[in-house]
Amino acid sequence: MIKKTLVAASVVALGAGTLSACGGDGASADDGTITMGFAQVGAESGWRTANSASIQDSAEEAGIDLKFTDAQQKQENQIKAIRSYIQQDVDVISFSPVVETGWDAVLQEAKRAGIPVILTDRAVDTEDESLYVSFLGSDFVAEGEKAGQWLVDNAGDMDVDGDGDINVVELQGTTGAAPAIDRKEGFESVIESDPTISIGASQTGDFTRDGGKQVMEAFLQSEDGIDVVYAHNDDMGLGAIEAIEAAGLVPGEDIKIITIDAVKDGMTALADGKINYIVECNPLLGPQLMDLAQKVIDGEEVPRRVVTEETTFTQEQAAEALPTREY
Ligand code: AHR
Repeated sequence: MIKKTLVAASVVALGAGTLSACGGDGASADDGTITMGFAQVGAESGWRTANSASIQDSAEEAGIDLKFTDAQQKQENQIKAIRSYIQQDVDVISFSPVVETGWDAVLQEAKRAGIPVILTDRAVDTEDESLYVSFLGSDFVAEGEKAGQWLVDNAGDMDVDGDGDINVVELQGTTGAAPAIDRKEGFESVIESDPTISIGASQTGDFTRDGGKQVMEAFLQSEDGIDVVYAHNDDMGLGAIEAIEAAGLVPGEDIKIITIDAVKDGMTALADGKINYIVECNPLLGPQLMDLAQKVIDGEEVPRRVVTEETTFTQEQAAEALPTREY
């Protein structure tokens, strides 16, 4: 159990307008072990699998008692899981919101119960900043900008059918999810500087390989002269590769492909020449999350926003990085 003396210290250190770290006299062990409830989005992608493993391994290493649920990409399941963590009176709740909106009610419940919430990976859209103590994750707008910048910088090689225009098809992530909204916005804000580049079609593939394949099959039927696929994650890009190959075309040559994540399967396809460029999104958030949770419980100040460090990969860089790639 997190002792009441510690609780009092936490409230003071966190100051007015933030949540106290005083949840958890029901679920915690009597020896000071922190109990964390984590509501994961699902298992939709290679990125998510690596992210879940990172959180589970890091909790074990940090001696944090982790209660973990997989919401199967449904907001109602995540809300149910969070409510159950509140009922169990865990010390801290963390989750990666499947979509941006619709969280205020359940976060108010956590706040009333005195349980601090740490957002990981994805943000929520709320006007009440007191509903969570910190948000750890990538800058998705910057990721979209990097993808767009590479396309603009390499525009000379991207007009595959030589008609003077670069026709991009976009495979969006889950509708309403922060990475889908932000990666679209970032990409569009950069490509608008080049009038030869335009997005001819854009549809969600829900961040899954199967979704990416199905949407790409439809694009290949409906769109003339596709030059470039911009996929919001590797898995959808890998699904698009399957559809492109099934149509008798060569991915990476007949149609250029840009994705985001840089998980092993994506990096392998990049090194093999089937993808042309990948913007990294780092899933290994576990160690930083456990560190933040410990600090919140100890009553230390924590930053409102912790941005993950990330890079980008060309085909040559992927071949070099692959042998030591962790995920
Ligand atoms: O929120 C991060 C995104 O979610 C990853 O880019 C994607 O692969 C995952 O499903």
